[in-house]
Amino acid sequence: MPSWPTGSRHASRLHKATILTTIDFSITGLASNGRGVAEHDGESWFVDDALPGEIVRATIAVKRRRVRRAKTLITLKASPDRVVPRCEYFGVCGGCVMQHLSISGQLRHKQANVVAALERYSVEFAADGITGISPSAWGYRRKGRLGVRYVPKKGGILVGFREREKNYVTDIKQCHTLVPELSSLLPSLKGRLQDISGRESIPQVEVASGMNNAAIVVRHLTPLSERDLQRLTSFGREQNVRVYLQSGGPDTIVPLEKRGEPLTYRIRASGDTIEFLTTDFIQVNDAANQEIVDLVLHMLALTQSDRVLELFCGLGNLTLPVASNVDRVVGLDYDEQLVRRGKDNALFNHKDNVEFIRADLTEAPVGEWWASERFTKLLLDPPRSGALEILNTIVPTLAPERIVYVSCNPETLARDAATLTARFGYRLEAVQVVDMFTHTGHVETIALFV
Ligand SMILES: C[S@@+](CC[C@H](N)C(=O)[O-])C[C@H]1O[C@@H](n2cnc3c(N)ncnc32)[C@H](O)[C@@H]1O
Repeated sequence: MPSWPTGSRHASRLHKATILTTIDFSITGLASNGRGVAEHDGESWFVDDALPGEIVRATIAVKRRRVRRAKTLITLKASPDRVVPRCEYFGVCGGCVMQHLSISGQLRHKQANVVAALERYSVEFAADGITGISPSAWGYRRKGRLGVRYVPKKGGILVGFREREKNYVTDIKQCHTLVPELSSLLPSLKGRLQDISGRESIPQVEVASGMNNAAIVVRHLTPLSERDLQRLTSFGREQNVRVYLQSGGPDTIVPLEKRGEPLTYRIRASGDTIEFLTTDFIQVNDAANQEIVDLVLHMLALTQSDRVLELFCGLGNLTLPVASNVDRVVGLDYDEQLVRRGKDNALFNHKDNVEFIRADLTEAPVGEWWASERFTKLLLDPPRSGALEILNTIVPTLAPERIVYVSCNPETLARDAATLTARFGYRLEAVQVVDMFTHTGHVETIALFV
């Protein structure tokens, strides 16, 4: 609590104002940004550091027409799911927002989110039929974008995720959600960037880890000197990390040295090896991804005569394991680099029943052969915006026996599920949440329609 100069009228006025701005909230929900949600005097509030079921005394942080936010001063009744956050930066760093909630509590909360979204869209599904798993809650992030900032007043180079409230860089020495080989790289990476004369022109470094090695992509806004390049080269050699430079968009990424193996990961279900670049989209949590692949294969109930159409296929993470079990699979994605990587991955893994095609799936597929071909099953893994347009276009003609929908947004999953069930007559048969991004508000769900 602030202390005021005593005895003056000014002080008593201020003290009264402080008391007036303290509210006791009964928390009823949890927002995706990790804040508790509560109603007070008919208004909705977001409350920092407050969990569903808790009663907290909080002070007003922001009160505007659209935003009402309060900060917990004291927890009057704690949730049984409350735990001590593992990370010293929790609350400041924007990388995690739910470390104060147990792992099982996070999973239940995410499952409840999916159920609530399905209910909002009146999709028929037994609420207790939803299942969930949290395969790896710590040390799971095999890929991350770290902010870099040179702030002489704070001792020089800062490296870390953006702060939760502001766009500042949280200076972190370790991260409990990054895979250990990336977390342990942080102090030496910071030291090396500090030692570079072009450090002020480096806004970010992307880091990624594969089966046998790691890689970093150093974004730089002005050309780096010969000495700086040498310093980065020796960093790569000392740390056994492939270093790439990026001077502009994704097509400007170049390796600093020719030597070294590309990054790869292996898919347990099919034995496929997937090659990727640090900046490619890959599922960040390997253990969760393996579970998703298993679930997708199980839900599709594949046979050797199946022909599968896969929308939003990326670099073939689901496409290649599906190919092992079917007659043919066609994957579509609009990212040229990922489509190229998909083709390379198919070649590399000797899969000749796979085709990768570049297509923008927000546009109607006029005259595209794949839109009128016979496919027995449909698989899709769209971005947060969902897949309503393309489902509306192709499902009536394709009429697949099964649709497996991998979703990163319960809201658009529920919206699209409403169309598949109410308009096209499918039944939502199974729903499973796989906690891909523990400690964040992201929800990954696999749904089966028959
Ligand atoms: C969630 S990722 C799924 C990738 C893949 N299934 C995997 O497991 O790695 C979504 C994919 O949708 C693609 N995408 C986004 N918008 C698209 C669009 N309008 N048309 C086609 N593909 C799109 C992205 O390039 C990305 O590969």
